[in-house]
Amino acid sequence: MDLMEYQAKELFAKHGVPVNIGTVITETAAAAAAAEEQGGRVVVKAQVKIGGRGKAGGVKLATDPADAVAKAEEILGMDIKGHTVHRVLIAPAADIADEYYFSFLVDRANRNYLCIASIEGGVEIEVTAVENPDAVAKVAIDPQVGVDDAKAAEIVAATRFPAEVAEQAKDVIKKLWDVFVKEDATLVEVNPLVKLADGTLEALDGKVSLDENADFRHPDHEDFVLIEDADPLELAAKEKGLNYVKLDGEVGIIGNGAGLVMSTLDVVAYAGEKHGGVKPANFLDIGGGASAEVMANGLHIIIGDEQVKSVFVNVFGGITACDAVAHGIVGALEKLGDEATKPLVVRLDGNNVVEGRRILNEANHPLVTLVDTMDGAADKAAELANA
Ligand SMILES: Nc1ncnc2c1ncn2[C@@H]1O[C@H](COP(=O)(O)OP(=O)(O)OP(=O)(O)O)[C@@H](O)[C@H]1O
Ligand SMILES: [Mg+2]
Repeated sequence: MDLMEYQAKELFAKHGVPVNIGTVITETAAAAAAAEEQGGRVVVKAQVKIGGRGKAGGVKLATDPADAVAKAEEILGMDIKGHTVHRVLIAPAADIADEYYFSFLVDRANRNYLCIASIEGGVEIEVTAVENPDAVAKVAIDPQVGVDDAKAAEIVAATRFPAEVAEQAKDVIKKLWDVFVKEDATLVEVNPLVKLADGTLEALDGKVSLDENADFRHPDHEDFVLIEDADPLELAAKEKGLNYVKLDGEVGIIGNGAGLVMSTLDVVAYAGEKHGGVKPANFLDIGGGASAEVMANGLHIIIGDEQVKSVFVNVFGGITACDAVAHGIVGALEKLGDEATKPLVVRLDGNNVVEGRRILNEANHPLVTLVDTMDGAADKAAELANA
């Protein structure tokens, strides 16, 4: 899960990283009081989960509360690379002397952690890495050891932090490491980490990605989920424990196994080219054991998507036998009753396929079409979606 800047800063504060979080507002009218509270001279910052806010005009300095209202008015509702701004952060304007870049991330290729840091911060690190690679330090971190005093000193030296901030930088680096490890993050990035005019360091921006596999260790992370920003179908699916991702097309997809579902998306997109350009409407992996309940839950979510015109159920029986899946489909349609309104194309293969097909043929449901091959079924589902 990616966090918004203000949420990242909340985690920074929790672990002692110097920040001034400021106040989050959702309505222009609240900007004046928020700016007053933050000292009058403030920055108004769009809170969206995408980089390059500053360049897009989503970060603006306001000289006083009235100006903050004007800037909030401009930024709220703005579109930044497809993300609508619903919240802005009003934070005290910092007196910046220098801007640095700092991050911890998972280095999958080398099976360890990596620190990337530069004293040329504020700008896009990707650009610095190309134009001035010597200015970007990369320090590998042994997961067994982590960032101790020696590693923090090594990072400070490799980055060539100026002597006057070296001690502070070591301290901030260890605290950012605490955020990374103790919160189970896969990315902690600060750009810019600034030296203020008075010589102290402060994190002026923050990007944190949390590892959702570790959610069970962090009940408090649930507070970071912003219900109003989430897709309602995805939320409903999550409640049912379904592995569902909403996409933009017309053909609903249900399959078992992430790999099969991914290839199903491909064949449907390909088949759609011959049928008015229809596309897959979602990813849904019902995994093993496709019971009537799981099938009904999945179908319910997919049918609830207004864009969906047909549904393609693609199951390859392995441990889960096709007859169990067929019973699941029949049971799901019974359970859904009048709610089942969209044509279903079913392709079954693998373990106990003959019995599975027999069950579906016998049920002879008016909405169900059985097709033997994956390509044939994709074509049929695309055709029905375009009808
Ligand atoms: N509190 C602040 N006071 C003064 N200047 C600020 C403050 N916050 C940000 N800035 C200035 O605005 C620039 C951009 O801000 P920030 O880094 O938060 O957004 P961004 O990097 O453009 O967005 P993103 O991180 O989404 O790419 C900073 O590099 C800094 O110069
Ligand atoms: Mg930034």
